[in-house]
Amino acid sequence: MAERPSTSFPVDKIKVLLLENIHKSAHEIFGQEGYSVEAISKALPEEELRKKVAEAHVLGIRSKTQVTPAVLEAGTRLLSVGAFCIGTNQVALDAANGRGVPVFNAPFSNTRSVAELIVCEVIALSRQLGDRSQEVHAGVWKKVATNCHEIRGKTIGIVGYGHIGSQVGVLAEALGMRVVYFDVRATLPMGNNHSCATLDALLGQSDFVTLHVPETKDTKHMIGEAQIAQMKPGACLLNMSRGTVVVIDALAAAIKSKHLGGAAVDVYPSEPESNSDGFESPLRGLPNVLLTPHVGGSTEEAQEAIGREVARSLVRFVSSGSTAGAVNFPEIDMPPMRGGHRILNVHKNVPGVLTNINRIVSDHSANIQAQVLSTDANIGYLIMDINVDVSEGVRKGIAALPTSIKTRILF
Ligand code: NAI
Repeated sequence: MAERPSTSFPVDKIKVLLLENIHKSAHEIFGQEGYSVEAISKALPEEELRKKVAEAHVLGIRSKTQVTPAVLEAGTRLLSVGAFCIGTNQVALDAANGRGVPVFNAPFSNTRSVAELIVCEVIALSRQLGDRSQEVHAGVWKKVATNCHEIRGKTIGIVGYGHIGSQVGVLAEALGMRVVYFDVRATLPMGNNHSCATLDALLGQSDFVTLHVPETKDTKHMIGEAQIAQMKPGACLLNMSRGTVVVIDALAAAIKSKHLGGAAVDVYPSEPESNSDGFESPLRGLPNVLLTPHVGGSTEEAQEAIGREVARSLVRFVSSGSTAGAVNFPEIDMPPMRGGHRILNVHKNVPGVLTNINRIVSDHSANIQAQVLSTDANIGYLIMDINVDVSEGVRKGIAALPTSIKTRILF
């Protein structure tokens, strides 16, 4: 068996590979730590990424890069992956877990940006703003009030009342809207927002239905022909969550038949890889349909906050082993070391591992200053602070256990 590359090294040897134009706030944080950063402005295809990732200790991506099991296999030195966005379904999370690689994301750095755009689009749909703007650009003067409305007093139905959905509820209520929501988990309503017992109940009473659910097997095509039929005539649908949630053909048909009064769509079942690729959709050219290129969370403020949030999580993991906020890993957040050395060990979660580790510790007469273990179904993650004179021997002993997946030491 080939020798596993060492995972303990000085900070200036730590290589960070950042793809997809990650904000400079992240570069600054890695730079302050003394890490070396290579930044590439686009996503890389699998084969190219496999070559690049072989040298990296930290990989930073956004939503386009696919971190497949094959990419993880090539990343023999990889300590951690940072998804500088909210979604992490572009990363093979289970495979990363099995290789002892925690994945971090930024669950709420762009929440406000998405919520603000939803409020903007609710008003824009209500006033047919997209169409009016296009007409005037084309030299057409069409001054109309028919089917244009204030949003005050109208009902907005929020599907998925998590970070974004609940913020939309707060902003919409401040504008005088009545807010109802549907979520599969019980959540505390903000302000005067009301929860609906079923999705159907929400659809039947909302002038605007806005989707803020994650992409799961349950949310795939959750809004199709039958659900759209239950929406009020003239109501508008907004999807800024994930492209698979809505059946696009059903939405296009409902706009053409005038059952729906408009739609705002930011995410699509298949999206262009880059800004130079073209875009096709049955929604193109339909009246009062606002189409945006997955820019819901794309603001300077959000990018900067995401850069900082994820970079800090990655640095904390590299320098202290903290996995707080990791999406695929047992969570440990231990205070900094006080004088000792810290051993980090990821192992298969099978009976007897801790006994074997503690035997190695006792064989070296090590003095444990702190020890925390956290497990999930597949792996265990152990952080142990011990006295410096025996730490390297203990690390070697633990790393050699057949149950060990990844072991490193922090000085
Ligand atoms: P979150 O995890 O905070 O909230 C999602 C909510 O949906 C949770 O409360 C969950 O219980 C609920 N939910 C899950 N399955 C459901 C179901 N079947 N029916 C009803 N509710 C269900 O997520 P967050 O941060 O609010 O993001 C929501 C979505 O927005 C995600 O899909 C994310 O990918 C997308 N997003 C899109 C952006 C864009 O640029 N367009 C930017 C940021 C996020």
